Amino acid sequence: MKSVTRRNVMTYGAGAFLSACGGSGGSSSIITSPPVPPVPVPTSLASVAAAKGMRFGTAFNTGTGSTFNDAQYTALMQAECSAAVAENDHKWGAIRPDATSFTFTGGDALVDFAAANDLFMRGHVLLWEDERFYPTWFSTYDFGANPVQEAERLLTEHITTVAARYVDDITSWDVVNEAIDPSTSQFRSSPFSRQLGGMEAVLDTAFHAARDTLPNAQLVYNDFMGWGTGSGHRDAVLSMLDGMVNRGTPIDALGIQSHIFGGSGDGSNIDEAGWRTFLDNVVDLGLDLVITEFDVNDVNMPADIATRDQNIAEYTERYLGIMFDYPELRDVLCWGLVHRYSWMQNFQPRADGLQKRSTPFDDDYAPTPMYDAILAAFEGAAVRSG
Ligand code: GLA
Repeated sequence: MKSVTRRNVMTYGAGAFLSACGGSGGSSSIITSPPVPPVPVPTSLASVAAAKGMRFGTAFNTGTGSTFNDAQYTALMQAECSAAVAENDHKWGAIRPDATSFTFTGGDALVDFAAANDLFMRGHVLLWEDERFYPTWFSTYDFGANPVQEAERLLTEHITTVAARYVDDITSWDVVNEAIDPSTSQFRSSPFSRQLGGMEAVLDTAFHAARDTLPNAQLVYNDFMGWGTGSGHRDAVLSMLDGMVNRGTPIDALGIQSHIFGGSGDGSNIDEAGWRTFLDNVVDLGLDLVITEFDVNDVNMPADIATRDQNIAEYTERYLGIMFDYPELRDVLCWGLVHRYSWMQNFQPRADGLQKRSTPFDDDYAPTPMYDAILAAFEGAAVRSG
């Protein structure tokens, strides 16, 4: 693998946003003044992405101790991002206190921040089909005497209400998340799928409701199949997408979560050929690709921080290098920017108890080698046209 070096360490404050306007006055004075050196335009992930017709962004979250309430974190977003997504604030668990009401406080705040800062806001998620993540009231919900109609009504009402609320703000939605059970490579069983007679009916109901409300938005199926060895999850997602396209279900893109597993850091867990074949097959269906939740799981990587950061950067550059070969991919969103806020700290914690380093900035908001790897990957990407 190509080695990745740490670049200049940047700081984020008002001084970092000087505009490149020095010395370009148009007067024809005969007094010649010394040439003014150009003010360097600060490099950011957003700017290198934009040069390729791409976007870089992150998830953020409201709540006590959250990223949205951390001014340094939001300053980092302003400096580095051109896209954003709610980590939790648009999920059923956040906006559906019960079957009849909606609470949009957190979700609205994030959308307003994105709009005020010219960030492309993605929507996540209109339906997460892993039953463990439904709100608790839903597990005992009584679908009544006409359960099929009631399931259709509830699902459609939810999707059209949320999509319509952000019709001008969110034009790319994860419509359905994780419909496949990776342990069986079959559709999950969910309350909606049980009522509607299967997951295909759920997918079709959800995507049609989204399309009816958002005729021009990018509608995405999102999942965590990946480049690791073992293709069952990938095969099942591909077959599901094939079915959707053949049925005329209005889907535009596959969201590839990209919580990539770093293994022991030596690359032995990667099935690059199988992954490329999968991606080829997905784009052959006419679908675009979105990296929706990128981070690197360093649970089994070496403890030494320099070695670990190097491994994470190598995985990042290799992964994004593959992904960026596909012009169908334009948007790359990390699932958080700063280590201490990352969900990875709680998911599969390291046996040695050390903090995981899954995101491109450390707890001092300084870029890690992973940052340099993302930057290098954007720099190596072909310009997207159209
Ligand atoms: C999945 C979901 C995300 C998030 C992560 C873990 O990837 O799509 O919304 O919950 O799990 O944080």
